[in-house]
Amino acid sequence: MSNDFSSAGPPGAAGNVADHPTVAGLLDAARARGIARLDAEVLLSALSGLGRAQLIAFGERPVDALTSAMVEVGLERLAAGEPLAYITGTKEFWSLPLVVTRDVLIPRPDTELLVERCLALLPDAPQQVADLGTGSGAIALALARERPAWRIVATDASPAALEVAAVNRQRLNLGNVELRAGHWCAALPDSGFDAILSNPPYIAEDDAALAGLGHEPRGALVAGEQGFADLLQIAGSARARLRPGGALLLEHGSTQAPRLREALVAMGFVRVASLRDLAGHERVTEAFSPT
Ligand SMILES: C[S@@+](CC[C@H](N)C(=O)[O-])C[C@H]1O[C@@H](n2cnc3c(N)ncnc32)[C@H](O)[C@@H]1O
Repeated sequence: MSNDFSSAGPPGAAGNVADHPTVAGLLDAARARGIARLDAEVLLSALSGLGRAQLIAFGERPVDALTSAMVEVGLERLAAGEPLAYITGTKEFWSLPLVVTRDVLIPRPDTELLVERCLALLPDAPQQVADLGTGSGAIALALARERPAWRIVATDASPAALEVAAVNRQRLNLGNVELRAGHWCAALPDSGFDAILSNPPYIAEDDAALAGLGHEPRGALVAGEQGFADLLQIAGSARARLRPGGALLLEHGSTQAPRLREALVAMGFVRVASLRDLAGHERVTEAFSPT
């Protein structure tokens, strides 16, 4: 990607640089469109290859024609409500730079709670862990980075999502993640897992929040039965795939914990409990297979 911010480029290579917008000019144009300064800086940084501190230092320098054209397009897309991560093609999760496309959910910081809890529950010794509905690979790759001795099976029903996860696995060089296609636990090659994790679709079809999520794949977001269909399907098949004492960890919406806990207890899971996020909402429920 071009990062020629110099006003002393090859003569004629990029036209008359005096006509080019400056870094500060592009940031002003973003503000005029109602785009947050941080989003504009991240976009410009991603497209120019310069760090955000450098953008400030080079504020009055002209931006080359290709970069400014790409920034213009990016600003248009941001102004139209497209998430920044789809425009830059990348999102950080658990400090890992992940490639994201419109085939995958943009990983959310909330999901790090699931990763944290799994790391706290299982020993730093060989373990078998499954991440159902892996999307970009966020959960599986974060665990793989932290625990090289674990074998992690990451599944998804979407072949396009699995392609993105495969790119991320390769870029991060995390060989202890196995990718498999298929429907929830049916995609797992075997049983005896120490933990099964999932951040499945859990938004109800009539939830008003969906209006703001129109750029992300519907199949990653929406579940029937008022958002419970996938949570309950996973719970219903996970016990047979866990070793005795193995853990099921599910992310869910902030109002879904009581009904999910009740269902898990009815299915025979033990030590069923929900964990709160930093905002105090119950967002992850854990349950254990009886020993
Ligand atoms: C909420 S997204 C989570 C993505 C990723 N784990 C994350 O936390 O960023 C749910 C994922 O489940 C996948 N999915 C939906 N239905 C599925 C099914 N029946 N079996 C397996 N995966 C499914 C979607 O393709 C999507 O990637």
